[in-house]
Order: sequence, then C-alpha cells, then structure tokens
Amino acid sequence: MTTAKNTKQKSEKVISDYNGYDYKKIFWEDADRKYEDMADRIAIRKLLPEKMENFVDIAGGYGRLADEYIHRAKKSTIFDYSKTELKQAKDKYGDKINTKAGDIYALPFKDNEFDSLLMVRATHHFKEMQKVSNELYRVLAPGGIAVIEVANKKTLPKMFRYWFKKSDVNPFDRKPSHLKDLNKDGFYNYHPKYIEEVFKKSGFKIKKVRSVSNFRSTKLKKIFGTKVLVRLEKSAQVTLAPVRFAPSIYYQLEKPKN
Ligand SMILES: C[S@@+](CC[C@H](N)C(=O)[O-])C[C@H]1O[C@@H](n2cnc3c(N)ncnc32)[C@H](O)[C@@H]1O
Repeated sequence: MTTAKNTKQKSEKVISDYNGYDYKKIFWEDADRKYEDMADRIAIRKLLPEKMENFVDIAGGYGRLADEYIHRAKKSTIFDYSKTELKQAKDKYGDKINTKAGDIYALPFKDNEFDSLLMVRATHHFKEMQKVSNELYRVLAPGGIAVIEVANKKTLPKMFRYWFKKSDVNPFDRKPSHLKDLNKDGFYNYHPKYIEEVFKKSGFKIKKVRSVSNFRSTKLKKIFGTKVLVRLEKSAQVTLAPVRFAPSIYYQLEKPKN
C-alpha cells in the first residue's frame, strides 16, 4: 500500500503529495514487490503501441516504468506532482526523458498534444475520476492510445472480507469506495462498471482489458515464489480479464478519430 507523506485539500480535490517521500526506496526497493512490478510490465508491453511519437507517463513518479517506453517513443515525458520523484527520473534518464510538474486536474499540456499516454497506480489517489478522465482525453490526439491502470473495488479478497463481515465496503456496489482506515489519507477504489462508464462518458473507446496482479498476496509469494507467480500471471491477465476480479485492471483506450 502506498503511503503518501501528506494530503492537501484543494476544494473537493485531493493531492497526495509525494514531495520529500522516497517512494522508490520505501515502496519498491525495501519491499518484496518484484511480482507486482513484473505484472505491471507484462501488461504495459502488450498494451502500449510499439511505436510512439509523443508519449507521456501521467503520475509517472520517478520513472519506474520508463525502461518499458523510452525506446518505443520519439519523445517521452513524465508528468507528476512530486518534484522529488521527477528529479530522481531526470537523474537516472537525463536527456532521454522530459519532466513536467503539476496537478492532474489541470494538465499543463495542449489539447491533442500526445499520441499515447500511460497512467499506472494513480487512480487510488483521485476522488474525481470523471475530471481526470476528461483531462486525459483532452491531451490525447484523435486516434491516440491511453493505457490506464485502475485500482479495483471488486476483488476476490474484498468480496470475502465483505461476506465474512470483516469490512463494510460492498464490492458489488458501483459507487467508488474511500478506504479511510488503511492510511490517514485514504484511498479510492473503483468498480469496473463505474470506471468504464467514466471512460465512455469522456469519449474513449475501450479496446482491450487486462486483469493484473492477480496473485498479489504475501502468502502466495511465500508458497510459490515470484518466478512461478509471474509465469502464471502472463496467461491469467488475459483469461481472467472478463471477470475483472484482480486488484489492478488495465484498460487500453482509444480516442476516436471523429
Ligand atoms: C503510487 S505512485 C505511482 C507512480 C508510478 N506511476 C508508478 O507506477 O511507479 C502515485 C503517483 O501519483 C502522483 N500524484 C498523486 N496525486 C497527483 C496529482 N493530483 N497530480 C499529479 N500527480 C499526482 C504522486 O506524486 C505519485 O508519484
């Protein structure tokens, strides 16, 4: 679970401020998350276009996934609120990456600026997904591709927790959940049907869906090990996509040409 340093309220909006927080070290390097990292990469390799002109990684942090896209794009930009993370990205990738700081609710980019974009592990910070989706749509060119990962409300563990009365959050209710108890800032989780309506309302066409991080469990990692889980993950992303029970659901969206 991400632990953003603090959260600033801006009217109704929430900014999870990672400035001064070493997300790279604390969340990825000091924890056993090789499986989760690989699960993201498997999906991204399949969903991002092979060749891209002008690409942006939205809420891309320190560029954890940059080595999955810099070779596919003529120009790559990481956009994030955290200057701490953007500096880490710049330190590692130099001229191969442009960085831009700002708030997702008002992206500092022109209409139709990018032919492709990525957004991973960020929706859980966003209260107003319709506004976020509209902004992503705005900056994408007609015919462009957006690959967006969504924090899923309707997972199997959440169903069991609800059925066994360990949680009040009903995973079948389509309204977004705000999990205040996990961390002081809380997290938003989205029901697949809800988020798919959000994307369609913006104007996006859903082209492909993947079920990702299907085996995200400390117990499973202990029993089977990361290597086996990663191997299983490769086929599970496609076969389990129709049920959408995984903690991460990846969408490949297209902004139609007209
Ligand atoms: C869990 S991290 C994910 C980073 C990266 N996408 C990855 O998968 O490694 C969430 C990111 O969202 C950024 N973020 C949170 N709220 C934001 C906002 N309102 N505008 C822009 N970025 C934001 C944070 O700074 C952080 O880098």
